[in-house]
Amino acid sequence: MAARLHPPYPPKQEIVDLRRLDPRDLADLLQEEVVAWRRELDWDFEQSADLVRRFVQLRALNGSALLENGAVTGYVYYVLEENKALIGDLYVRREFRSAAREEWLLETALEPVMASENVRRVECQLMMLSQDHKEPLARRKYLRAFERNFMRVNLKSSPLAEGRIRHPVFLERWSDHYQDAAARLIAGAYHAHIDSQINDQYRSVPGARRFLYNIVQYPGCGTFYRPASFAAFDVKSGQLCGVSLSSLVAAEAGHITQICVSDEVRGSGVGYELLRRSLTCLRDAQCRTASLTVTAANTGAVQLYERVGFETLRRFSAYVWEGF
Ligand SMILES: CC(C)(COP(=O)(O)OP(=O)(O)OC[C@H]1O[C@@H](n2cnc3c(N)ncnc32)[C@H](O)[C@@H]1OP(=O)(O)O)[C@@H](O)C(=O)NCCC(=O)NCCS
Repeated sequence: MAARLHPPYPPKQEIVDLRRLDPRDLADLLQEEVVAWRRELDWDFEQSADLVRRFVQLRALNGSALLENGAVTGYVYYVLEENKALIGDLYVRREFRSAAREEWLLETALEPVMASENVRRVECQLMMLSQDHKEPLARRKYLRAFERNFMRVNLKSSPLAEGRIRHPVFLERWSDHYQDAAARLIAGAYHAHIDSQINDQYRSVPGARRFLYNIVQYPGCGTFYRPASFAAFDVKSGQLCGVSLSSLVAAEAGHITQICVSDEVRGSGVGYELLRRSLTCLRDAQCRTASLTVTAANTGAVQLYERVGFETLRRFSAYVWEGF
């Protein structure tokens, strides 16, 4: 009889509901994920991991984990927001990472939400997904994919040279009083924009208000950093015509969570100046780098960022499903 080259049995794999797990079951996976975000994206994922631990403890997180021989090797969770499901995270441990495992996990999240009468839309942007999805993602025929860039600039070497603004505006540091005007600005600036296909909060003023509330309150996009967030006002009308909002994603790393300029003022150097001010303040706050994400097809914005010195570090996909 030939010598046995493989273990006698294949590893036992099972999918379990996250509500059946204890935060300790996810400890190693989350620890590895925190290290990966730090190493690969200069991003402190600890606060997000903490939220996951807290909600798992409360048995209140929707999602599932992949168990192999009794240990968690991957997990996915999603949150429901009115008629929308957001896939919050999907992570498979490096040693076990494969497109098949990721698709399996994604499928376990998509299946119940797509079957639910209340869910009309699913959105997901998963930066830690492996890059080698040769096989179609689960249910890809229902999912629309949008290529996104994760871009980063070295603040120590970027000149951040002053530009020339060709429209009379004045810039103010961000105040939460601007939130309503900013919601109107965002809904207008993203009208018929590719990003409002990816994030439906951009499509209406109440949606944009929720978007702003989330980036100020929750750690998903880092900790909102007011000193490096700016608003531009049209001198003639006094109306808000641009914003650049920042967060800290690690002690020495900033992030631009939102930048937009109204249609009327666009193309006159205001976007550049807002960005430059935010980046200068992040640098003054001892940030070594700043990052942002942008849809690859948004070439105008990509050009602006490249001009400032941003480089694309990673490409990832945003997936959207819309029901009837
Ligand atoms: C992206 C955005 C903030 C840029 O603001 P802006 O005030 O129009 O940009 P600026 O006038 O400062 O442009 C700066 C430079 O960026 C580049 N640029 C900006 N928009 C461009 C476009 N649509 N096409 C080509 N290049 C563009 C140019 O190099 C320009 O150089 P210039 O000063 O020599 O003209 C603005 O177009 C916007 O609000 N777009 C909709 C929302 C959006 O896409 N936000 C970014 C999401 S990641």
